[in-house]
Amino acid sequence: MLFPEGVAIDGRRGSVEPSTDKYIKRLSDLRGLFRDEAALDRAIAKGDAIAYEVIDYRKSESDLAFGTTIMMPGKVGDEYFMTRGHFHARRECGEAYYTQSGEGLLLLQSRQGEVRTVEMRPGVCAFIPPDWAHRSINTGSGKLVFVWFCATDASHDYGAIREKGMRRLVVERNGKPALVDNPNFA
Ligand code: PA5
Ligand code: NI
Repeated sequence: MLFPEGVAIDGRRGSVEPSTDKYIKRLSDLRGLFRDEAALDRAIAKGDAIAYEVIDYRKSESDLAFGTTIMMPGKVGDEYFMTRGHFHARRECGEAYYTQSGEGLLLLQSRQGEVRTVEMRPGVCAFIPPDWAHRSINTGSGKLVFVWFCATDASHDYGAIREKGMRRLVVERNGKPALVDNPNFA
């Protein structure tokens, strides 16, 4: 049987106590994501930095799960560090991303290829409708930390985004984030 409990989430560090699972993605885990592959190889050779970490509070007997994503600042070429991006395998499942610290952009794409962005900054809770692919991008100079809430069994479907990419890229132009067309979008 499950029992209620309080889970301490530190909005600066992104720690979740207690948590049930966690993983780290380094730049070498993100091959194929950035368009400047030579820049990625150089960054990996220079120490293979952590790009992001995900900490879960997930109980299989419950319908609702939550956790944090902690994204480091950085760029590969002119592209900011980003998550892989995914649809949910259960297409009826949406999600919410509640930013706690830092600044970023949430890039969303519908099955029909429509693109939207939602600003990520403290106080903004982004609504991700069902069947919109979502990728978060740290456009700031510090950590981007957000809390996510979604169905326990929503499950990630990475295939479409991994194979085709997303229609737009978020790059630095004159020191600021800019949304540009992805020349390699399949
Ligand atoms: O469920 C979510 O949308 C998040 O927890 C993401 O999984 C997390 O931000 C990491 O992104 P991705 O799974 O696209 O690598
Ligand atoms: Ni998701």
